[in-house]
Amino acid sequence: FASGSLDGVKLVITAGPTIEAIDPVRFISNHSSGKMGFALAQAAIDAGASVTLVAGPVHLATPERCQRINVQSAEQMLQAVNEQLDSCDIFIGCAAVADYRPATVAEQKIKKNDDSMSITLVRNPDIISVVAKHQPRPFCVGFAAETENLIAHAQQKRIRKNLDMIIANDVANSAIGFNSDNNAATLITAQGEHSLALASKTQLARAAIAHIAQQFKAGNKP
Ligand code: PMT
Repeated sequence: FASGSLDGVKLVITAGPTIEAIDPVRFISNHSSGKMGFALAQAAIDAGASVTLVAGPVHLATPERCQRINVQSAEQMLQAVNEQLDSCDIFIGCAAVADYRPATVAEQKIKKNDDSMSITLVRNPDIISVVAKHQPRPFCVGFAAETENLIAHAQQKRIRKNLDMIIANDVANSAIGFNSDNNAATLITAQGEHSLALASKTQLARAAIAHIAQQFKAGNKP
């Protein structure tokens, strides 16, 4: 890990969950704590980068020298990311973006009765796919949170979303992934795979940022 390896480079990192409102008091979300994305932001800053962190609702302190934009929903996250793209060199999508949102948001608290109820969900925009189509196109790094066939599913996702790198994360194992302090991951590019053994998210982030800096400078294409 070389401090200074990202001098003059601008990163945009998404972190945490998004929450999608059902009514004024209820929402759909997931278990992302933001820890992995915030650790990446800190590691990139330590490597000399200027970092904008677009964060869903999480309970974490902002890393020093980091610009933080707080959002709630996937649509807000997309808008905040879009506003950063003209000056972005590297984009890392670590957020666990909700894939669906309720088709309508009730203005008042929904009253219960004895019947079952259903909520119609519609697709949210795929933020990282939008980023990968933007011109100028940043070096795009995604995460793949998978519960089975980790490497194969992650590789398919990298190709489908046109990413330079995907970081495969086994979220079936509760010792790593969502909300834990540790993680293990496999970095996948068109050129090959690189495994990062179980470590704290802080250490894993430093190793991942070192690889991302190397690949970014090599200019390899997806
Ligand atoms: O936050 P922590 O508790 O520390 O946990 C970290 C983590 C497990 C959330 C993180 O390491 C991780 O794996 N994040 C990605 C979670 C995820 O949503 O993966 P996915 O396989 O559904 O999405 C693939 C990629 O597309 C991701 O880069 C995601 O940010 C992006 N995506 C997904 C859906 C969507 N609508 N827009 C997106 O940009």
